[in-house]
Amino acid sequence: MVNQTQSKKTPLIRYPRFNELHNDILLCQEATAQAGEPSCMVLEGVTGAGKSTLVKAYAENFPPYDNDEGTKIPVFYLETPSPVTVKGMALHMLAELGDPAADRGTLQVMNSRLIHYLSVCEVQLVILDDFHHLIDSETNRILATVSDWLKVLIKETGIPFLVVGIENSVDRILRANKQLSRLFAVREKLIPFSMATADDAHSFYLFLDYAQQAVKMQIEHTLSQDEFLVRMYFATDGVVANIMNLLRFAALLCAKKEKTSLTLQDLDVAFNKRLKEHLLKPPDPFMLDINLVLQGIQEGQSYLPNLSPGKRPKPKSAAQILRAK
Ligand SMILES: Nc1ncnc2c1ncn2[C@@H]1O[C@H](COP(=O)(O)OP(=O)(O)OP(=O)(O)O)[C@@H](O)[C@H]1O
Ligand SMILES: [Mg+2]
Repeated sequence: MVNQTQSKKTPLIRYPRFNELHNDILLCQEATAQAGEPSCMVLEGVTGAGKSTLVKAYAENFPPYDNDEGTKIPVFYLETPSPVTVKGMALHMLAELGDPAADRGTLQVMNSRLIHYLSVCEVQLVILDDFHHLIDSETNRILATVSDWLKVLIKETGIPFLVVGIENSVDRILRANKQLSRLFAVREKLIPFSMATADDAHSFYLFLDYAQQAVKMQIEHTLSQDEFLVRMYFATDGVVANIMNLLRFAALLCAKKEKTSLTLQDLDVAFNKRLKEHLLKPPDPFMLDINLVLQGIQEGQSYLPNLSPGKRPKPKSAAQILRAK
């Protein structure tokens, strides 16, 4: 599941939900070709959920190439600048598509050129990341302008769009325009890992396993997997960015000390240095009494192993956890 061909610095983890969403995006491309009408998708999630990583990895599967007619861009990935207006966004898109006169003309003229370039570059999917930048501080009137602009682009080009943003942000522009809403039949979320059910805990466990492989440092074999799972959830809220930040830094500290495995203490030091301020959490989640940790995450997370002192489970192997599922 860890992609060894990626950069050595940050190997990509292709966990099941990641692959599922890649498949959803591919289906949008295929459904568009089949129906002749753009099948668009929204991907929303909290900050750090891994949205940009996921869609950039998708775009990398369809890299730009040159042929006799010029540059072709099968999947056109674009970050929305901040702050930006609709005209600013059109300009940015034109510049990225290589228009030498990207800033010329009215919005209408820019739109015509944009439609032309998207067609000439044979774009099959447009991915607009951080789309909420376009609607961050907008009034309902501007919201309507954004949704109209998007609708015209999609309808005129026939190209499916994947619009990525912070939770519930993209939904706001779709609600502003029924026609646009219909084009975005696929609405997906990338939610943090959770401990709500045994399946959720299992997915989280697997991700932590891939993540340890990615940072090339495993937790000490004497540490219980259940305890590791619970404390990691407590410390990171199951958010991929927090998990990776914590494990990467802990692995770095270990490597500096020429250690070969991670202890709770290493994780605690890494948390206090890298996550405590950002998450506004109390310090030492890896050293805290396990009962306090369990109390801290009880609400809504019903699948929690019994870790009362005196009843601490023996360390489990990955195989045991998988069998127990
Ligand atoms: N599949 C993955 N494999 C490895 N690391 C990942 C993966 N997904 C996310 N990360 C890590 O988490 C960090 C945050 O991910 P990303 O920028 O994709 O989140 P995001 O949802 O786009 O956040 P934001 O809404 O703030 O833009 C990345 O820098 C990367 O280090
Ligand atoms: Mg992002």
